[in-house]
Formats: sequence, C-alpha cells, structure tokens
Amino acid sequence: MGNQVILIEHPLIQHKLTLMRKAETSTVKFRVLLKEIGMLLGYEVTRDLPLKHEKIQTPLASMNAPILAPEKKLVIVSIQRAGQGILDGMLELMPSARVGHIGLYRDPKTLIPVEYYFKVPHDIEKRDVLVVDPMLATGNSAVAAVERVKSTNPLSIKFVCLLAAPEGIEHFIEVHPDVSIYTAAIDEKLDEHGYILPGMGDAGDRLFGTR
Ligand code: URA
Repeated sequence: MGNQVILIEHPLIQHKLTLMRKAETSTVKFRVLLKEIGMLLGYEVTRDLPLKHEKIQTPLASMNAPILAPEKKLVIVSIQRAGQGILDGMLELMPSARVGHIGLYRDPKTLIPVEYYFKVPHDIEKRDVLVVDPMLATGNSAVAAVERVKSTNPLSIKFVCLLAAPEGIEHFIEVHPDVSIYTAAIDEKLDEHGYILPGMGDAGDRLFGTR
C-alpha cells in the first residue's frame, strides 16, 4: 500500500492543539492537553481495527455483538521523551494495548538520532504497531524509529504525531513509503535548528518542564 498522510482535523483536537502551541501554556496544562489529544488521536487512528462478533445476553435478549478481535492487541511504541504524553492518552483509551519504548536523542549539531534504548513486546510480529511522537520535524527520529520497529517484523506500522513539517513528511515518505503518517497539523517549515515553525517549541521540555 502506498504512503498516506492523514490529517486529523477533529475540532476538539484542533482546539487543544492551539492551546498547546501558546507560549504561556503551563507544563501542567500542556501535559493534560497532550494526554487528551493522545486519547483523541488514538480514537481516530484505530477506526480500522477488526471486529468479531460474540453471542451475548443483555438483560432483555441475546444478540450477536461486535467486540475487538482479541488477537489484534496493538503495540504502542513511544519515542522518548515526548512520545510518553501521547502514549499516556492512548493507554487511557486502550488499557490492554502493549507498549514499546525507543530512546532516541537528537545530536544537537548533526540532528542525527542516536538510539540509547529499545524494548518492545516479544511477540510484536503478531501485532499492529502505532509509533508515536508529537513532532515530525526533520523526520530523522521518526525514520530511525520506524526502521528499528520494522526490524522486529510487526504486522503493520502507523506513525502518529501532532505536528509535522513538510520537510519531515517528505523525508519520511522517501524512506518509508509503506507507512501512513497521521498528524493533526502540517506546519510551515523548519527553522535552522530543526524546530517546527510556528510549532509549539520543544515538546519534551514543555511536557517535563525542563525548559
Ligand atoms: N522536536 C520538538 O520538540 N519540537 C520541534 O519543533 C521539533 C522537534
């Protein structure tokens, strides 16, 4: 399947995203908003989860009711640090999802990602994966993370972010034409330090109060 960029324009997400962008938004509020948006993004990106039917008994009658196919439990792979905010929201919505972590930091000079941690469920090859990170900036971290996740052979991968820069999307699509990008906004461009403009600043710093 070809790569798709899916813009999630739900009004609640757009509203919360605007609040997150504001420079005056506190760490506490930023954290709450990112978790809420994580939940809403989780709702949007799981629209295609397969259902099966199960015979159940309501207080009045029996019926064939849809439930999620249990063997299709997702893995949410969070790119540290800022991916944690989206992960928290998604787990609120899907508490039985499995979780993976990938630790990458951007070398401040080269902007190249360096991996320092990687842990995913042992049976990831039987599962669908959502790789989450609020910011798709240069695309370097997202590309590296997805490459690493691909090496574990999951059933499928989606990349989920809040903000994307056109440069990052282009880079990502070039390397991973088979992975869809879900984003709440596509901003104008990157600045000379690899930050998204107008963006929201450093998502990790704003989430953890390390500014
Ligand atoms: N990472 C961030 O946290 N913010 C940006 O603008 C770019 C990358």
